[in-house]
Amino acid sequence: MSLAQVREWVGAARRLAVLTGAGMSAESGVPTFRDAQTGLWAKFRPEELATENAFRANTAHVWDWYAMRREKLKGVAPNAGHRALAEFALRHPGRLTLITQNVDGLHQRAGSPDVLALHGNIAQDKWLDAPRRCCTAQPPVDGRPPRCAVCGNLRRPAVVWFGEMLPVDVLEAAEAAAQACDLMLVVGTSGVVYPAAGLARTAAAHGRMVVVNPEPSDLDDAAHVVLRGTAAGLLPQLLAHT
Ligand code: OAD
Repeated sequence: MSLAQVREWVGAARRLAVLTGAGMSAESGVPTFRDAQTGLWAKFRPEELATENAFRANTAHVWDWYAMRREKLKGVAPNAGHRALAEFALRHPGRLTLITQNVDGLHQRAGSPDVLALHGNIAQDKWLDAPRRCCTAQPPVDGRPPRCAVCGNLRRPAVVWFGEMLPVDVLEAAEAAAQACDLMLVVGTSGVVYPAAGLARTAAAHGRMVVVNPEPSDLDDAAHVVLRGTAAGLLPQLLAHT
């Protein structure tokens, strides 16, 4: 089983789904989450940063962590893998469903239409508590984070934290795509966070599932083929000829 085989499956697939994780953006210079030395959580445990409790307990610290990531994203650009996916989708309208765990917006910036962003978008904020009329009556006052001048409600990143529900409509669309696709490419994810990883297992049960990752992942056991390589290296080879 090889690259040529998977390329053939891509060519034959009437419905293709792609599930991406942090490794998708590694070659753009965005650190992954779980790389022990350089990952985004190298110095912290996820539960210390990416939860509502963490935000309420260490508000400025967590806000600053997101601010640092937002700042870094200004200096990066989509890579050849993001571009190959966007170009495929534009060449084959309606054939590809792109599902991402990434909040970096790089698929969207590459031109991919209708991206199913399971974990939200780091570029956006929302209210921490249900907004009252005062919250929306005037712009929030600056701070780390900005807050409502009247009731003190805080702004927070519009991403999904541990323990939170994924957006229902996005998850439903992703589950439908995982069930309906002939082939799912699973690119750059460790496969340890659910329900996202479950989508790959669903796809493997209904059709074919291929892992694209330079390192072992938790989804290798369910894959029909594992391609050991990078997103920017392999996706153009898999997609550009169809
Ligand atoms: P991880 O950091 O857990 O995994 C990144 C994966 O990318 C690893 O399996 C790497 O081997 C692989 N990888 C590294 N470089 C690559 C490259 N150039 N090409 C392809 N693959 C490469 O990131 P995720 O699996 O995305 O959620 O993590 C899942 C979720 O955990 C994230 O969306 C985040 C976190 O909780 C939230 O923040 C809600």
